Amino acid sequence: MTKTDKGMRKGLAHYGDEAFSLYMRRAFIKAMGYSDDALTRPIIGITDTGSDYNACHGGMPKLIEAVKRGVMLAGGMPMAFPTISVHESFSHPTSMFLRNLMAMDTEEMMRAQPMDAVVLIGGCDKTVPAQLMAAASADIPAAVVVTGPMMTGRYQGERLGACTDCRRLWGSYRAGQLDDDAIDEITGRLAPTIGTCMVMGTASTMACMTEALGMMLPGGATIPAVNADRLRIAERTGRRAVEMAQSGPRPSEVMTADAFRNALVTLQAIGGSTNGLIHITAVARRLGIAIDLDEFDRIGREVPVLIDLKPSGEHYMENLHESGGLNAVLRELKPHLALDAPTITGRPLRENIEAGERVPGQNVVRSPDRPIRPSGGLAVLCGNLAPGGAIIKHSAASPELMSHKGRAVVFESLEDLARRIDDPDLDVDADSVLVLKNAGPKGAPGMPEAGYLPIPKKLGRRGVKDMVRISDARMSGTAFGTIVLHVTPEAYVGGPLALVQNGDMVSLDVVARRLELEVDAEELQSRRRNWSAPSPHPGSNRGYLKLYLDSVQQADQGCDFEFM
Ligand code: FES
Repeated sequence: MTKTDKGMRKGLAHYGDEAFSLYMRRAFIKAMGYSDDALTRPIIGITDTGSDYNACHGGMPKLIEAVKRGVMLAGGMPMAFPTISVHESFSHPTSMFLRNLMAMDTEEMMRAQPMDAVVLIGGCDKTVPAQLMAAASADIPAAVVVTGPMMTGRYQGERLGACTDCRRLWGSYRAGQLDDDAIDEITGRLAPTIGTCMVMGTASTMACMTEALGMMLPGGATIPAVNADRLRIAERTGRRAVEMAQSGPRPSEVMTADAFRNALVTLQAIGGSTNGLIHITAVARRLGIAIDLDEFDRIGREVPVLIDLKPSGEHYMENLHESGGLNAVLRELKPHLALDAPTITGRPLRENIEAGERVPGQNVVRSPDRPIRPSGGLAVLCGNLAPGGAIIKHSAASPELMSHKGRAVVFESLEDLARRIDDPDLDVDADSVLVLKNAGPKGAPGMPEAGYLPIPKKLGRRGVKDMVRISDARMSGTAFGTIVLHVTPEAYVGGPLALVQNGDMVSLDVVARRLELEVDAEELQSRRRNWSAPSPHPGSNRGYLKLYLDSVQQADQGCDFEFM
């Protein structure tokens, strides 16, 4: 690096005179009261993704303070800067639509502002993927801190967690088993503290995968948001970032092909969210590394689910933390991991694992000879209905539906679904296969978490708890059900899903990894000739929606923009 690559001299604004640019920068930053000594230190950027809309990031002010403390204890100069913040329930039309915008915002602000290393503080589902995508592209030494999972709540003595129990109890409400007063009371109990959802949803999945990738200090994935250790690891990360500012490693040196494979092994072993696959694909592709779906499926056949956590098991993130955190899982997974993969500690993964806490008698992390499930949590399906692949979280599905053939009940869009799913005259029974179209990356747009189609009320009232559901949408990692997602290519661009009609037979065979539309090829060709693309989305002729629709790729490419 040249002298101008460091600290305040880095990335000067273009005025045509570098000395003038530096003079102007120093003049303005001095208005903040910094001394010359402070301004000559290594600069550590810290992303501030706090927002009054984002309870998952409610701990942000104290986390930033703790990272700053660590940076200053190590002799660096911390500079917090805002980026957009994306919360699942406060992102219209859906958070996935905004993930790439957050990745661009974060990457460009990392490039535009002088920083020798950066601490990325994220947590809610799309924020950590966006930050990893940004780090991969900007390739400035980077360490991730997550805001941490929230604690569990209770209702009438029953332990509750967001959002596996949100969905389960909403299902009970729809089925008439809970009244309005009960669901109101439950609304106040599901998310009793700040922090991210405390089941193995997307936030927890991404936190665990980030630690397995080597981009987070060991132990960082599972510490609850309100635990003092959460602040201590933030402080340690600040300290470490100062060292990384001097000697790296850069994200491209940590996130290698081996590291991504470790993350995929982890995804299978934790029964992680289907979204984890899309996000890690996007991050890897930023570094020119392709995620092979067949290889991911092979990993799933070899690697068992080892943690007893909702929605695949019984416990919550605070229990995983008390049981040794992700390190306890990685220790059991050693035969499947590339143990020499580098990490931001400066040590290989092997040494981080060895240094982790061992908790005698814990019952959350299982050994491979006593797994929760003998194979991994996710399976990749292929067949004439999904030539580019589809995914199912079979660890959180009904075993009796793993091989199922049923009559399609088709919904053309989210609006159609909302309008008709509870129609008493809907021609549906418990063996039907619910099919939702036009909810993919371009179709909805933004590939919302709509794949968890509700059980039609009239079936719910008869005690039907699960059915095969198929769509080009995503699903929350917190959900339970026999739900086929990410059907690629999506219906909106003319994938075979677009051709399914009411009454067609659809067969799912998870063991054989097949998803088939049992309609003969001639009939499908005739339907294709008559198919026309849905009308354009309102407002799609300008702004971010236009950029998104013009550039977003399919699920098997990570839904990143093609120009990234
Ligand atoms: Fe933010 Fe679940 S809504 S992690």
